Amino acid sequence: MIFRQLFEPDSATYTYLLACPHTRRAALIDPVLDTIERDLAVLEELGLELRYTLETHMHADHLTSARVLRERTGCQVAYPGVDTPDCADIPLQEGEPLSVGDVQIQPLFTPGHTSHSFCYLVEDGTHKMVFTGDTLLIEACGRTDFQSGDARALYRSVNDKLFTLPDETLVYPGHDYEGRFVSSIAQEKTRNPRLGGGKSLEEFVAIMEGMDLPYPRKIDFAVPGNTLCGECPPNVPEEYRQPCQAHEQG
Ligand SMILES: [Fe+2]
Repeated sequence: MIFRQLFEPDSATYTYLLACPHTRRAALIDPVLDTIERDLAVLEELGLELRYTLETHMHADHLTSARVLRERTGCQVAYPGVDTPDCADIPLQEGEPLSVGDVQIQPLFTPGHTSHSFCYLVEDGTHKMVFTGDTLLIEACGRTDFQSGDARALYRSVNDKLFTLPDETLVYPGHDYEGRFVSSIAQEKTRNPRLGGGKSLEEFVAIMEGMDLPYPRKIDFAVPGNTLCGECPPNVPEEYRQPCQAHEQG
């Protein structure tokens, strides 16, 4: 499998490029509008045809580039098959793998960070990889205090769906704010301070309820924009308009 881990620094978001070396078909997980030109350049450099974008959830911290990628490449836009927005082409369901050439992407329904969050599991014959969005981060997890978040649901999703994967499964998170790239199921089961070491449901809920988190700075335009697969709504503040304008002009 062809694989690239790409980074958008303003929101510290990871975008993942997965592609089949035989058919040259590719998918992007969680592409960001701010870095669309970089992502298109990587696809071109590698000689790949973008077939799908996949969202792990409706992001509150950045605008997806799904809609513009569809306009520019003819790809299809896949979203979680729960609360799927009308703009999506494909509602993903657990138990229904998505094929990208020889690469099989297995959706896992993992509510908690949001009520519709999904993770994506890929086995390429050598590695098992799970793309966890904001459900499981390296030694952390996504917040559960907005967007129909639910700490109890997140605990069950991680323990029932992720921590039951083989220990060697590589964990590729939706974000990292400290420059780390990858973890593993074994590492998170051991070292995750919120969920690892056999933390109980009650302990986890107390940790999540005790967090004093700031209001997300992009949520007021990111969520409405992502409901339209990444269309810039009129209320994008001036300091965040550059990626919108770049597309509108181009
Ligand atoms: Fe999120």
